[in-house]
Amino acid sequence: MVVAGTGSQVPERILTNADLEKIVDTSDQWITERTGMKERRISAPDEAASDIAVKACEKALAEAKVKSEDIDLIVVGTVTGDMLFPSTACVLQQKLGAPRAAAFDVSAGCTGFIYALSIARQFIASGASQTALVVGVDILSKITDWTDRSTCVLFGDGSGAAVLKAGTKPDTGILATYLAADGAGAEHLYMPAGGSRLPASVETVQQRLHTCKMNGNAIFKVAVRSMADAVRHLLRQTDLKLEDIKLLIPHQANLRIIEATTKLLKFPPERVFINIHKYGNTSSASTIIALDEARKAGRIHAGDAVMIVAFGAGLTWGGVAIRF
Ligand SMILES: CC(C)(COP(=O)(O)OP(=O)(O)OC[C@H]1O[C@@H](n2cnc3c(N)ncnc32)[C@H](O)[C@@H]1OP(=O)(O)O)[C@@H](O)C(=O)NCCC(=O)NCCS
Repeated sequence: MVVAGTGSQVPERILTNADLEKIVDTSDQWITERTGMKERRISAPDEAASDIAVKACEKALAEAKVKSEDIDLIVVGTVTGDMLFPSTACVLQQKLGAPRAAAFDVSAGCTGFIYALSIARQFIASGASQTALVVGVDILSKITDWTDRSTCVLFGDGSGAAVLKAGTKPDTGILATYLAADGAGAEHLYMPAGGSRLPASVETVQQRLHTCKMNGNAIFKVAVRSMADAVRHLLRQTDLKLEDIKLLIPHQANLRIIEATTKLLKFPPERVFINIHKYGNTSSASTIIALDEARKAGRIHAGDAVMIVAFGAGLTWGGVAIRF
């Protein structure tokens, strides 16, 4: 199967570190040194996940030369869909005009796009699907506590999409996927209210329980271990060696996490894709925005093997090896 096209879209509004200095007690120096982030994109008040995702999808479909009516599967990785239900995949199905497509969302935190891609791959491999649209989108700014400096500087909004097509070209497309989870780490990154555990009430709103809570230090350690683990699993599943990977695309959560992971793997930094300075952590959208930008920037050529790895709420982690 082949990755026939990719696209990405971010909201227009840019929030810089200097802007954040006016909101919470922080500094450009702290954010830059501890995270590598300089700015991030923030959606408009009336802009929901599907509003930016639809534009990423249109770009991916145009590149793949696929008509929306030919899509038979839409899988969306997100934790900030338009609504709790129906799925944002169904909203996109309607917006794109893809009446033949089965559509559903996947909740895997920042590993959302990799989980979604892996599921779509199985649908195509089994013959159940021929043409799948795989989306990663998150609007974390809408579930961010803008009084909490330990989280609000980290997140941004964005979306990306990939078109997967059944194909017979051997050794091209998705070579391997690896998915993992450890629910014991759920307490390190979560949104307490808004589900059946704590439905919305005046109290939950007053206590800011509809916002993201995070134990940054605990996540940091797991992140490095789990992304390195994902790379090693993918190497074992394929005949690839580290030196065969032309580009490593890690989840853009913290530049120090990326550097520690590549150091642990002894992977050359010049073959690691980084755009965290522009977007911060865009959750489910992070790796597909990075893949799309890397392709459009000429960092990936025909025949190149690429690995994409991520970790996120759940906890979840995983990766995908693709040959273009
Ligand atoms: C959140 C994170 C950037 C914090 O960096 P850190 O170097 O671990 O910093 P610490 O949490 O140890 O905090 C150090 C100090 O900076 C302060 N601090 C936290 N956020 C700050 C901010 N935005 N500006 C200034 N100071 C800040 C803390 O209060 C603390 O002060 P103290 O020593 O007086 O208590 C880092 O742990 C991280 O990136 N973790 C992973 C998060 C992640 O990836 N989440 C998404 C998963 S998909």
